Amino acid sequence: MPAIERVLFTEEEINHRIRQVAGQISADFAKRELKLVGVLKGSVFFLTALARELTIPVTVDFLGVSSFRHSQPAPGMAPGPQGSPGMVRISKDLDESIEGENVLLVEDIIDTGFTTRYLLQHLSGRAPKSLGVCTLLDRTPRRIVQIPLDYRCFEIPDRFVVGFGLDYRQLYRNLKYVAVLNPEAGG
Ligand code: PRP
Repeated sequence: MPAIERVLFTEEEINHRIRQVAGQISADFAKRELKLVGVLKGSVFFLTALARELTIPVTVDFLGVSSFRHSQPAPGMAPGPQGSPGMVRISKDLDESIEGENVLLVEDIIDTGFTTRYLLQHLSGRAPKSLGVCTLLDRTPRRIVQIPLDYRCFEIPDRFVVGFGLDYRQLYRNLKYVAVLNPEAGG
């Protein structure tokens, strides 16, 4: 099992940045209700932290997606062939209608952009009043399709990262910080 190579963002840095972004969102949606839509499983940790810092009325709902590729290749591996938008599908739909609501899609990380583009198409068909995107991490070197990104906490380089919702074989999601995994070292 790979070991943690270095901490990219500490717990304090992440919480500070989330407070900043939450302040911006609260100002943008002042006195209006906002529905946070999380994408299982990774975004749950970020969505929870973000929601706690918002000062506007908030509701939450979740989507599950299946993609026939690994958005994060294993440590030490080159990214595999990236999928087409058709390779993402909904495995768990929203529980409630979003018609006429202000909706913010909340992600832990955006890589190629395929998942976000697919979900934006899916959600816009449900006639929300507004639809935005917020991500904890933006790994821009992996971007293949351009997507509108309204709020971003951190831009990161093309490294395999774990923590704050991000996993390696389902582990590490519960770390309070974001770290780079070392593919060589055992841990
Ligand atoms: C991650 C992330 C996005 C997607 C982004 O999910 O939460 O949904 O990958 O990748 P893309 O921009 O290349 O489409 P992942 O597949 O790792 O699932 P998880 O949240 O359950 O870990």
